Amino acid sequence: MTPLWTSEEIARAVGGTAQGGFEAGGVTFDSREVEPGDLFIALRGEATDGHRFVSQAFARGAAGALVSEPVEGAHVRVADTVQALDALGRAARERSSQARIVGVTGSVGKTSTKEALFAALDRGSPDRVHRSLKSYNNHTGVPLSLSRMPRETRYGLFEMGMNHAGELSALTRLVRPHVALVTTVASAHREFFASEEAIADAKGEIFSGLEPDGVAIIPFDNPHRDRLIAAARPHAARIVTFGLGEGADVRAGYVVRGPKGGTMATALLPEAQLSFTVAQPGEHWVMNALAVLAVVEAVGGDLAAAGLALADLGGLKGRGERLRVPLADGEALLIDESYNANPASMTATLKVLGDEPVTGRRIAILGAMRELGAETDDFHAALAGPVEAAKVDFAILVGPEMGALAKALGPGTDLAHVPDTAAAIERAREAIGPGDAVLVKGSNSIGLAALVEALAGGER
Ligand SMILES: Nc1ncnc2c1ncn2[C@@H]1O[C@H](COP(=O)(O)OP(=O)(O)O)[C@@H](O)[C@H]1O
Ligand SMILES: [Mg+2]
Repeated sequence: MTPLWTSEEIARAVGGTAQGGFEAGGVTFDSREVEPGDLFIALRGEATDGHRFVSQAFARGAAGALVSEPVEGAHVRVADTVQALDALGRAARERSSQARIVGVTGSVGKTSTKEALFAALDRGSPDRVHRSLKSYNNHTGVPLSLSRMPRETRYGLFEMGMNHAGELSALTRLVRPHVALVTTVASAHREFFASEEAIADAKGEIFSGLEPDGVAIIPFDNPHRDRLIAAARPHAARIVTFGLGEGADVRAGYVVRGPKGGTMATALLPEAQLSFTVAQPGEHWVMNALAVLAVVEAVGGDLAAAGLALADLGGLKGRGERLRVPLADGEALLIDESYNANPASMTATLKVLGDEPVTGRRIAILGAMRELGAETDDFHAALAGPVEAAKVDFAILVGPEMGALAKALGPGTDLAHVPDTAAAIERAREAIGPGDAVLVKGSNSIGLAALVEALAGGER
């Protein structure tokens, strides 16, 4: 098999000099993640300098290093390794002229949709689909993911994220997508933006990197739809909207609850119709599925295979995975949403809890939502409606920011407001009984993953 990169190719791509020839099968800048045969890129960050870990990388089997200082062992030397990482990403993108490239952004649902899209395209073209790993979606994660793209890639999927205006412009110019998807626009990372409109504008930057024949895919039901369309118009050859509303280009015509909490629907696409099941519960997953189908059609992928893949989707760890909580006298269901939270995803997943059939109680363990800025209290208080609509029997609210929700819910709701995850674990152990459904959701920094581990660890 042709290697991912030869040292000559790397040197040419980054304008560096090679010392000792090597072939690399992978790329990483985290020395702890080095696998035998990888290229290790020594980045100089604020906290640490990757050059300190070059020997460790070689000890773990790195084939070569990309450095800006003299080192022992095969390497390519440049003036600036951060720029070299960008250049390597750009070179990977350039040589993949046969690949259809998809960029995914949005306030929520990027990773979920990217992973579903991977499953959908991989079903039709096994081993020819490349994607960003994890949430590698920023100024280092995106070029890294590009540089890892195998030459023979048919579909390349790249998640792009941002906290500030201007970031997506830079990322999308590296990725140069044929298809650019905005999953949704909502108040996430709101502390960095004056308004939700400003978030929409920053998300709309993704379209500025579209290839000349590019397709923009936009959420039809979103209040900022027209702003996104205006942002796409100068750059996109075609604009495709997806959603539930009458008039969306890709729309769910017939939606019913499917087996095991999933949804059955018929997707009406511009050129096709497809009846499909999406295994993951919730209306937000119907949206993600419609976005996936819109992308699959836009890249000329296999829609039927995509439909089969959606029916098989498992829950991602921290993003909807369903776990068993073993109890002395039975078991409870735990929905692990501990990876992150903002008003849109809280509302979406509370709805899932409300629709969950239970023989016991519905319990919501909700951690604070971070990075919401000056309106933090209002955003927390506004969850009272969704909590009540979800018929929550008992709520454990975690973290000081949740005081606003505790107050908004008032004495009519059975709840405990606790300072941290350790206290939440204790209350949860007392509260959870057989037949209960337990939603666990909060910003990652609240640490509710530890609660999931404590209650349902080993039951994966
Ligand atoms: N389309 C959507 N609308 C609202 N919430 C969603 C959507 N898709 C996923 N979610 C919720 O958001 C959480 C985070 O999803 P994720 O895909 O990791 O987002 P991102 O990568 O954009 O941060 C999920 O666990 C789920 O609760
Ligand atoms: Mg993500």
